[in-house]
Amino acid sequence: MNTTKDDFDPIPSTRFQATVGVGSLEQAQTEADALAVPVGADGEPAAELGTDRAALASAGFTGQRGQSLVQPRSDGPVRVAIGTGAGEVDLALVRDLAADFARAVPWHRRLAIEVPPQLRGVSVADFAQAVTEGVLLARWRYFLGKDADKPTLESLLVVAFDEDSEQARQGVERGRVVAAACSLGRDLANCPATTLSAVRMAEIAVEVGTAAGLEVEVYDKDQLIAMGCGGLLGVNRGSVQPPRMVRLRYTPEQPTGRIALIGKGIMYDSGGISLKPSDESHAQMKNDMTGAATVLASMTALRDLGCTAAVTGYLMCTDNMPSGSAMMLGDVLRMRNGTTVEVLNTDAEGRLVMADGLALATEEPVDAIVDIATLTGACLRTFGVEIAGVMGNDPAVVTQLKTAGEIVDEPVWELPLHRPYRKQLDSPIADLTNMGGVNAGSITAALFLEEFVDGKPWAHLDIAGTAQLPEARSWRNKGATGFGTRLLIEFARSFATPS
Ligand code: BES
Ligand code: ZN
Ligand code: ZN
Repeated sequence: MNTTKDDFDPIPSTRFQATVGVGSLEQAQTEADALAVPVGADGEPAAELGTDRAALASAGFTGQRGQSLVQPRSDGPVRVAIGTGAGEVDLALVRDLAADFARAVPWHRRLAIEVPPQLRGVSVADFAQAVTEGVLLARWRYFLGKDADKPTLESLLVVAFDEDSEQARQGVERGRVVAAACSLGRDLANCPATTLSAVRMAEIAVEVGTAAGLEVEVYDKDQLIAMGCGGLLGVNRGSVQPPRMVRLRYTPEQPTGRIALIGKGIMYDSGGISLKPSDESHAQMKNDMTGAATVLASMTALRDLGCTAAVTGYLMCTDNMPSGSAMMLGDVLRMRNGTTVEVLNTDAEGRLVMADGLALATEEPVDAIVDIATLTGACLRTFGVEIAGVMGNDPAVVTQLKTAGEIVDEPVWELPLHRPYRKQLDSPIADLTNMGGVNAGSITAALFLEEFVDGKPWAHLDIAGTAQLPEARSWRNKGATGFGTRLLIEFARSFATPS
C-alpha cells in the first residue's frame, strides 16, 4: 500500500476522561476554579454567588433562560450565574445551561455546578445527568495539532445537598457513560478517512466493544464473499482497502426484547465512478460512516446503563472509491437476501451496503430493526442540520425513536414511506435499481431499504443533515457530530417490544 503509516490516535477522547463526581459547596470552594450557580427569574440568588439581584440586573442579567454572567473574583472559584428562567426547567435546558457555562469559562479546567435547592420539573438524578452531559460534551474536542495532548477539562463536581447526593451520584455516573459514548462517536466520525479505514474501524470495534462487555465478530472479504454480501462487496470493488462487517452483541440476562441496529460505514464516500464534485459536501465525506460510529458508540454504554433489551449491531464498513476495478453503471449486484440490484449511480452506495446489513438482521429473531445512515442529500435539504429524518413500516418503533430523540434533544421527524413511489425503483433487468427519480430522494431511499427487512418491524434514520454542524452550539460540536449515539442509547434503554 502506498500510504505512510501515521500515528494519529483515531479515538483520543478515550484517553482524556475528566474526573466527575458529587460533593459539597466547601469542596467546590477549594477544588474548583469555576462554580456555576443557577439563578431563576425572581427571588434573591444563592449566597455563594456573592452578589444580589440588583447587582446582577445592573449587568443586564435577569435570570432568563440561557443567560450567563461571569463574576471575576480575587479568591476562590470564579462564580458564573446561569439563568434558569421562571417556569419549569426541562432537561434540554439544563444540558444547554451546563454547556453554556463550560463555554463561558473556556480557560478553567476544574468546574463545579450547583443543583438548585428547588428543582421544578426534573429529578435531581436527571438534572445531574444532563449537567454532566452538557459540560463533558461542550468540552469535547477532536484536535490533531500541537497541544492535542492537553485535556480541556480536569474535573467536574456537581454540588448537591447531603440528602440528594446519592441521586445526584447516579445521575452523574449515567451522564459520564453517555458522554463518553457520544465522544467516541464524535471521535470516529471526525477521524480522517486514511487513518480510519474499514480495517481499523473493525479493530477499534474489537477493542472498545470487548472492553464494554460486547461480543464482537469481524467478517473479512473472503467471509463476506461466502455470505453473499454483494452490496458491501460491490461498493468495495473500487478500493485498495478491504471491507469489514462487524457484528456486535449485547446480551443481558433475561432480555426484555431484541433490537438490531445497522450502521452505514462508508469510511469515505467519493461517489465512486459517479464521482462527487470537489466541493464542501464532498470534503465532509469522511463522516459517511457516522451511522456505524453511532451503533458502535451507543452499544458501548448499554451494560453500564443496565439496558435490559438484547442489542445486535451491524457495522457495514468500506470506502467508496473510483478506480479501474470499481462498480460500473449498469452493473447488477446480488444482495445477501438474493435480491438483484441494477446500479445506476455509484454514489447511491449507502443503500447497497445497508441492504446486506438489514438482510442479515432479519435472519435472527428480532423485535425491532433500526438502521442509521447518512443516506441522502435530500434529507439535508429537507430538514437542515438540526433534525434527522425517520421512516419505517412500524409506527410503534418510529414513535419510540421520536420520543428518544426528544428526551436526548436529538430531534427526528417522520417522512411518509409512500409506497406508490416504489415503482421509481423498478429495473428492466433486475429486481430493483438503486436510484429513484429526482424528487423525494429520502423516501425512495427508504423504500429501497424496506425491500430487505422481510416485513419485520423496522425504522430508518437518515442522519445526512445532522452528521455535520457548521458551528458549535451549546453541547453540540462543530464538524462531524456523531448525531444519533445518545438517541440510540435512549431508544435501547427504554425499548418496549411493539405488540
Ligand atoms: N453520503 C451521501 C449522502 C450525503 C449527502 C450525506 C450530503 C451528507 C451530505 C450518499 O451516499 C449519496 O451520495 N447519496 C446520493 C444519492 C443519489 C445519487 C440517489 C444523494 O443524496 O445525492
Ligand atoms: Zn454516495
Ligand atoms: Zn454515502
